Amino acid sequence: MVSNFVKNSYLGSTPEKDKIRTLTVEFAYKFFTEKQFKRINCLTLPSAWWIFENELSKLCFSNPDNKIFPFYTACEKDYNVFCTAGINIPRSKRGIKNTFAEELDDCMTVGNKMNATLLNIEVFRFMQLSQRNNNFNFVWLDLTCPITSCDEKLPLLNKVTDKENPGIFVLTVLKARENREIKNRVEYISQLVSTMDYQLYEQYTYRDSTPMLHLIYTRKA
Ligand SMILES: C[S@@+](CC[C@H](N)C(=O)[O-])C[C@H]1O[C@@H](n2cnc3c(N)ncnc32)[C@H](O)[C@@H]1O
Repeated sequence: MVSNFVKNSYLGSTPEKDKIRTLTVEFAYKFFTEKQFKRINCLTLPSAWWIFENELSKLCFSNPDNKIFPFYTACEKDYNVFCTAGINIPRSKRGIKNTFAEELDDCMTVGNKMNATLLNIEVFRFMQLSQRNNNFNFVWLDLTCPITSCDEKLPLLNKVTDKENPGIFVLTVLKARENREIKNRVEYISQLVSTMDYQLYEQYTYRDSTPMLHLIYTRKA
């Protein structure tokens, strides 16, 4: 089951997802470039392959006179996927260390100081327990559940995001299989995140193995 999921998340296996990912990367690069950011501090769910992160880093380093330095804090709840993701950490030829994060349920972490830290933890649990001053200016929760499984946890974003500067929040959830009725999901989610000053920039629907909803929000400052 897990190996099937990992295989199906490889670049080219889900063309509609590939398009949405690239579009998100291009939007984020433009957003941070226009605002003359030098750093992107990103909370992400990279799965086994870090496709989004590699695409974004490639763009960020594409202009030698105007590089942007991304750092990825990555969560993965499934141990098997975590292990595969651990050997695929972007730009990780040197300096990779394994540790246990005591304050995060003693979860296993692997990463380096320059590019990425990967944690074997559920992402909302990470947000809840994190005592680090994370100040993420880019969060992409690329989830595999419907919104009704996680709506109550979204306010945890407030704990980990940079509220002094502009930022991006992207939420991807299953469009179907809700366990309770919501008339207009986009309106509902937008209302939830508007309390954290995020405004809807664009919404997309696409088909992965099931219909998905992909929402891009921005925050001015
Ligand atoms: C949809 S995939 C991510 C795909 C990736 N962002 C890309 O662009 O190809 C979601 C990954 O996050 C993991 N995941 C899903 N929900 C999670 C959660 N709440 N906390 C931590 N990991 C989660 C899944 O096991 C899976 O490996």
